[in-house]
Amino acid sequence: MTGRTLPRGARIRSLGHASYEIEHAGVRLLIDPWFHPAFLGSWFPFPDNRPLLDDVVTNVYDLLYLSHAHEDHFDERTLELIDRDATTVVVPRFRSKALVRRLEELGFRTVVSLGHKERHEVADGFVLTMLLDTSHKEDSGLVVDLDGFRFLDLNDCNTPLSELPTDVDLLSAQYSGAMWYPNCYAYPDEVQRRKTAEVRGDLFDTLVRKVRLTGASAYLPAAGPPCFLDPELERFNDRTATIFPVWDDLADDFAAACPGVAAVCLEPGDALTADGPVESGLPGRAAWREDPEGYLAAYRVRRADEWAAYHEEPFEPVGAEELSGYFAKLTSWNKRFLADYERDVRLVADGVTWAVRLGRVGGVLEEDPVDAGYTIHVPPRALRAIVDGRIGWEEALLSLRLSLHRDPDVFDLTLMSLLRYGNQPAQTMQMVRERDEAASGETIERCGYAFQRFCPHAGEDLAHADIEDGVVECPRHHWKWDLATGECVSGGTVPLRVDPSERVP
Ligand code: FES
Repeated sequence: MTGRTLPRGARIRSLGHASYEIEHAGVRLLIDPWFHPAFLGSWFPFPDNRPLLDDVVTNVYDLLYLSHAHEDHFDERTLELIDRDATTVVVPRFRSKALVRRLEELGFRTVVSLGHKERHEVADGFVLTMLLDTSHKEDSGLVVDLDGFRFLDLNDCNTPLSELPTDVDLLSAQYSGAMWYPNCYAYPDEVQRRKTAEVRGDLFDTLVRKVRLTGASAYLPAAGPPCFLDPELERFNDRTATIFPVWDDLADDFAAACPGVAAVCLEPGDALTADGPVESGLPGRAAWREDPEGYLAAYRVRRADEWAAYHEEPFEPVGAEELSGYFAKLTSWNKRFLADYERDVRLVADGVTWAVRLGRVGGVLEEDPVDAGYTIHVPPRALRAIVDGRIGWEEALLSLRLSLHRDPDVFDLTLMSLLRYGNQPAQTMQMVRERDEAASGETIERCGYAFQRFCPHAGEDLAHADIEDGVVECPRHHWKWDLATGECVSGGTVPLRVDPSERVP
């Protein structure tokens, strides 16, 4: 590492995935502890971090930071084991209050909610600053200032690039995917390969931008990939054919793209100190490197009761009337968001097909529409969990247990947002506001073009976008727009507001 080093006595210990334990100035902070399977028993921490669980639940933490509600960050089974009287929880202040409510239900007594860029001084020389994904998406990162050393934990959060702090010494951020696209889509092999390569390239590009913009002198690969122990999901462990690479797959490209930035690879239990990285000494540390397949096979056996639980839980299949009621409710919660949108979707659960109308009148149709356009295959167990409100579509999709088909192959922002965020209408209402702002909000002028500053998809700041041959490309999800017309030419269908009169010849 070429930047500043941690103050003497301070320690950042990796607990696996996006979880850390930070000690400094007599204070102990725990971040996003994840030890149990997430998303319908599909995701498991990789490498296995369970040997650290006992240590974590017997330690006393002054502070616990939870970045967002996804189960690989908000692990209720672990949170139930932590001393909830002694620990102050620091969370982002999201529009929906669900995170705080869940913490109160779990018995945490002190919850500090911080808005975007709000600071919390923990002790002399130990300061936290919250960073939100300022779009409708509810996610956050944390700046941890330790007596002059700045650690930025971005996990899988996409705070707009222009809002990121500079002068960062150590950045922890995602490099591997945390999405169901494109691996859950039924594409021909060649198309699947191409789209997977595009997503991997986009993830890498986003990481490089974060490193450069924050001025990080060291990077800590984190927040993925998970592994999939249920044999049904085995194919998603393929590190080359999926959006879940391991760091070794990217290390050379990173060194070339970010010369002088040290990649600090910590196995679960390893720590960073003023003297540099310290290995944990845990038995089997980094064993996955020697024999990845054998490692996963043994891990699968160790957790057999956990991934099998998904298949064993008794359940009642969902019927047409119940499904109709579910979609009618989802529609009524999101009336303003849907406005006059209407779309038919085909839902297939274990051979039973339903035609569902989403939009002004939600519900199950008597007839299967010929042009549904979108087909979602969902396991009956997952559908039961969704209809009962135990999980949302977002979590069900992240489980990779669903498969999707769309024709034409175009992303439908309204449909996917309704499914992903519709059970938290505070998020879809924010999308309504973003839509309104897009029509009248701030304009920037770049390369002779004038266009709306914040991306109409999820609010990224286009001040950092690449422009080539009259096409602007958002740095976050890489949608592209023709700057002459505002038409979205890649990624989605939402236009960009452009002002052709501003074109400088
Ligand atoms: S924020 Fe998603 S493409 Fe811009």
